[in-house]
Amino acid sequence: MPVVEVHKLTKRYGDFVAIENVGFTVEEGEIFGILGPNGAGKTTTVECLQGLRMADEGELLVLGLDPRRHPDEVRRQIGSQLQESALPDRIKVWEALKLFSSFASGGPAWEAVLDQWGLSDKRNSPFGSLSGGQQQRLFVALAVVNAPKLVFLDEMTTGLDPMSRRATWDLIRQIRAGGTTVILVTHFMDEAEHLCDRVAVIDKKRVIALDTPARLIDEFAGETRVTFSTDHAELEFLSRLDEVSTIERKGPRVIVTGRGPLLARVAAELWTQGLSPIDLDVDRGSLEDVFLAITKTDS
Ligand SMILES: Nc1ncnc2c1ncn2[C@@H]1O[C@H](COP(=O)(O)OP(=O)(O)OP(=O)(O)O)[C@@H](O)[C@H]1O
Ligand SMILES: [Mg+2]
Repeated sequence: MPVVEVHKLTKRYGDFVAIENVGFTVEEGEIFGILGPNGAGKTTTVECLQGLRMADEGELLVLGLDPRRHPDEVRRQIGSQLQESALPDRIKVWEALKLFSSFASGGPAWEAVLDQWGLSDKRNSPFGSLSGGQQQRLFVALAVVNAPKLVFLDEMTTGLDPMSRRATWDLIRQIRAGGTTVILVTHFMDEAEHLCDRVAVIDKKRVIALDTPARLIDEFAGETRVTFSTDHAELEFLSRLDEVSTIERKGPRVIVTGRGPLLARVAAELWTQGLSPIDLDVDRGSLEDVFLAITKTDS
């Protein structure tokens, strides 16, 4: 059963339409990414789902509940890290974790979470004395302290150093392994590519693409290039592959372009022909190429 179902969601601020007819579903156990340019409506979308903003039109179901009619119940069952989070300056790290863990039962001990998120050293520090990255880490920890069925993370790694970002990805995977579904808003394409099972790209108020990172890359990031060296003259067998569109030769160097599982097909075919070049390499587009290709700033 889907954990989140959104159908024709529209939200206006006064006369301004922030999002229009946004729709997607999120399945149980997925890490679902939401990408899009600044102001595209990502935060608006996830805040409507969390019952923090009132959707104007559309059908919303979050864990089987309509967040417009049951905002408190929805909020009890989800974990949430908001883009604009704040805590009182004087609350201590351990106090915040203990407080948030008291909102629901069944989560891991908050002391363990303190450790997991590398905040043990700061357990007695007041919130106001933490660095930006430490505050950010605390907010993500607070979102997951109750082992919620569904967690919303709006730019969870913004402001984190590279090591903390990677550590956060590992923790998110652990959270998912524990059965939590994750909805992740991010501007980091590498984060979405590594972490998300599927991503929705929101632009100009609506969902303009929705698929697995691999399929989006295949569809929108242009062709894949496979290169290798060989002194074998006859390469006609490669051009018979459906995935291959061009084959170019520069001396011993061969450049094959195409789509789909190009590397696997070319490698298998070379192997069958008794060729096993040691420099077989692939150059594939990234989710960033997809993003740039489909969210052109022409408005
Ligand atoms: N409370 C509000 N009142 C009026 N307009 C708003 C309000 N909140 C958001 N908006 C507008 O709605 C649009 C979508 O904003 P939203 O915060 O959802 O974007 P976003 O995709 O999360 O952007 P970012 O990547 O910068 O976080 C923007 O044009 C924003 O100015
Ligand atoms: Mg936002």
